[in-house]
Amino acid sequence: MTKNILILPGDGIGPEIVAEARKVLARANELYDLQLAFSEDLLGGSAIDAHGVPLADATLEQARRSDAILMGAVGGPKWDNLERAIRPERGLLKLRSELDLFANLRPAILYPQLAAASTLKPEVVAGLDILIVRELTGGIYFGEPRGIRTLENGEREGFNTYRYAEHEIERIGRNAFEMARQRQGRLCSVDKANVLEATILWREVMDRLAPEYPDVTLSHMYVDNAAMQLVRAPKQFDVVVTGNMFGDILSDAAAMLTGSIGMLPSASLDKNRRGLYEPCHGSAPDIAGQGIANPLATILSGSMMLRYSLDMAAAADRIEQAVSAVLDRGLRTGDIFTDGCRRVSTAEMGDAVAAALDSVA
Ligand code: NAD
Ligand code: IPM
Ligand code: MN
Repeated sequence: MTKNILILPGDGIGPEIVAEARKVLARANELYDLQLAFSEDLLGGSAIDAHGVPLADATLEQARRSDAILMGAVGGPKWDNLERAIRPERGLLKLRSELDLFANLRPAILYPQLAAASTLKPEVVAGLDILIVRELTGGIYFGEPRGIRTLENGEREGFNTYRYAEHEIERIGRNAFEMARQRQGRLCSVDKANVLEATILWREVMDRLAPEYPDVTLSHMYVDNAAMQLVRAPKQFDVVVTGNMFGDILSDAAAMLTGSIGMLPSASLDKNRRGLYEPCHGSAPDIAGQGIANPLATILSGSMMLRYSLDMAAAADRIEQAVSAVLDRGLRTGDIFTDGCRRVSTAEMGDAVAAALDSVA
């Protein structure tokens, strides 16, 4: 049966990295007869330029009808001064929220070939394999009331609301326990329960779920300590579950453990594992248009798509093996370049991974 894949390249380096992921998926499609059918649409700044809004209704409808979505990144200085409702990022947030993509999986895995590319000592990151499970459709990102208002004294005040309902905590908690169960059985819930009520409830719900997963060991950590522990001794973690904003920040920190933010893929899933797949990084305006961005996070997001939403684990494995094979050969984009390696462009990296699909066992 045909699987319809909607591709949303977005802005900045988005189109450059997505083209390479599409190349790799297209090759996998041919080799394994996956019956993937691709279509493309606009999201973010490119959609604002074309339609005046960051997510057109027709695009949202097409997203609803797709079996999976692959996205690049959105945003950039050109649109930074627009009001919040029509900023590029708003299009992505609306897509996540409308499709109920509450479970954001961000795996931070160190490919052994990249140990020297991390800013941390090789022994600190060697063998690293952690999974951050970030709640994606609630918390302070979506809480109401929010806004900027003028106070009686004429001064303006910006305000947001950090809130989580029990059912929102429970569903991401169950997701994380299930993930931990399939890995090393260790789940660390990260919160700020020493200060914030929303996370006192978060901790309570995690504790309430724990007895249902006797094979998983649950621990709790405050977010400030977690940020420190992530760079001190990251291998103590197996699965980390946390709220929307803490997960955003901790996953960028975790990215550096893997050598570069250009290595971190993600899956954003609904309760039926339908999903949106995107690299964790942004549109990198500082390097856009130069052909030097690392496409591997997007290529690996494509492999997560095959694994999680399309039940094509064998093809997903092959893509990951092809990435590893290319790294074995010493090919590196600038962000992961180290002495003795060969510096390649975005397109050369994509070509190499696509070609390696033919040869990996
Ligand atoms: P960013 O992740 O775009 O860039 C941070 C740094 O990492 C930059 O120096 C950039 O060059 C580098 N980098 C990022 N991806 C890279 C890659 N694949 N290869 C090599 N280097 C890479 O973060 P930012 O600069 O804070 O944000 C830029 C824009 O992206 C903003 O408009 C922001 O809102 C948006 N953003 C979008 C997403 C998304 O679409 N999911 C995520 C984060 C930021
Ligand atoms: C991410 C990004 C987004 C987020 C922005 C662009 C809305 O930083 O996917 O990590 O904060 O979730
Ligand atoms: Mn982010």
